[in-house]
Amino acid sequence: MHNLGILLSGRGSNFEAIAKNVAAGRIPNARIAVVISNKLDAGGIEIARRLGLHALVIPSKGKDREQHDREVVAALQEHKVDLVCLAGYMRLLSPWFVQQFPHRILNIHPSLLPAFPGLEAQQQAFAYGVKVAGCTVHFVDEELDHGAIIVQKTVPVLDGDDEHTLAERILEQEHIAYSEAINVVLEGKFDVVGRRLVRTVAAG
Ligand code: GRF
Repeated sequence: MHNLGILLSGRGSNFEAIAKNVAAGRIPNARIAVVISNKLDAGGIEIARRLGLHALVIPSKGKDREQHDREVVAALQEHKVDLVCLAGYMRLLSPWFVQQFPHRILNIHPSLLPAFPGLEAQQQAFAYGVKVAGCTVHFVDEELDHGAIIVQKTVPVLDGDDEHTLAERILEQEHIAYSEAINVVLEGKFDVVGRRLVRTVAAG
């Protein structure tokens, strides 16, 4: 059984999609061991409580990064987490945190990386005038929105779009992409060659 740890700061719709897929058996041999927010008022924490999951708030305000990260890592270890999923977690992880879970931390970003890293990626893409947008699930390394790509999904940008309708269309794909990426990682049938995640096919 794989223990997932979810880190979030807000609404929690990606977490909720993962939770639904776990409950429906679409992420086999996995359970959500703990959901942690750095914000007291995160909607995702309400969802976690409603679903009867372990939900913790570990406030980040007023703490330095490494101090907060130590508290979060201690909670993840206490719940025996083996895969950490950042789902709208608005904090950059310290190098120390990343080193505690090598190739075991995933993040979702609402653009086709390496385009539009950072905040408000959907708005950045819309304002730039791209015709194709999308989302990326990637391993977390020590740089922002940077590690090896696991899954990407594209959506068209339509003439009638505004930044909100585009963001909604991307979010639908995020909810599909994250569980797909978790399954890739948990199945373990891949190598990371340079930046490239390459699926391996079992011989025989
Ligand atoms: C998503 O757009 C995700 O890609 C980004 O933050 C947003 C979180 O939304 N990293 P939610 O809290 O999962 O609804």
